Amino acid sequence: MDTLEAIKSRRSARAWEPGSVPSDIVRELLTAAFYAPSTSNQQPWHVVVVDDRDVLSRAAALNPFGLMAAKAPMGLLVCLDKDLERFPGTGIQDCAAATQNILLAAHALGLGAVWTGIHPDPSRVESFSALFGLPKDVTPVSFVLLGYSAQEPRPFDRARWGRVHVNHW
Ligand SMILES: Cc1cc2nc3c(=O)[nH]c(=O)nc-3n(C[C@H](O)[C@H](O)[C@H](O)COP(=O)(O)O)c2cc1C
Repeated sequence: MDTLEAIKSRRSARAWEPGSVPSDIVRELLTAAFYAPSTSNQQPWHVVVVDDRDVLSRAAALNPFGLMAAKAPMGLLVCLDKDLERFPGTGIQDCAAATQNILLAAHALGLGAVWTGIHPDPSRVESFSALFGLPKDVTPVSFVLLGYSAQEPRPFDRARWGRVHVNHW
């Protein structure tokens, strides 16, 4: 699948076939995250790979918009390490780019994934930090749930040409 096709055909998946994701595929997803652009190449991320059913169920209970974690084959928790953030306030954007790379790589590899947001909701940041034992200067940004999709959400035309401005608003 080429890059433009992956961008235009990707949709969020929220139901999955049972069965785990092979470790070489997980490695590809992590590699995609690590190749994301970042502010001044600071690469301020860490990723927690989660395939423990009990932990996935406990994560589901912490986010009303992420209940499907309880049934997801796995999750990737993308975290910002503020000690690696050389330009304060920029790391969230870097972690968002890494998250999008994971979504696109998952789609290109035949998986279905959904981004569940942790940052900036204070209660989710706190509860996910506690569940995963994150160090003090590490913030959970997104929890990507993924596996082999049991759905085929269709792409649709969402190009909003009225939002384009040429040379001036
Ligand atoms: C920052 C962010 C947070 C999101 N959080 C959630 C979430 O908590 N639960 C969820 O089901 N989807 C979440 N999504 C996925 C969006 O709902 C989804 O991308 C959007 O509806 C567009 O649909 P699509 O991904 O199928 O194109 C999130 C997406 C982003 C970018």
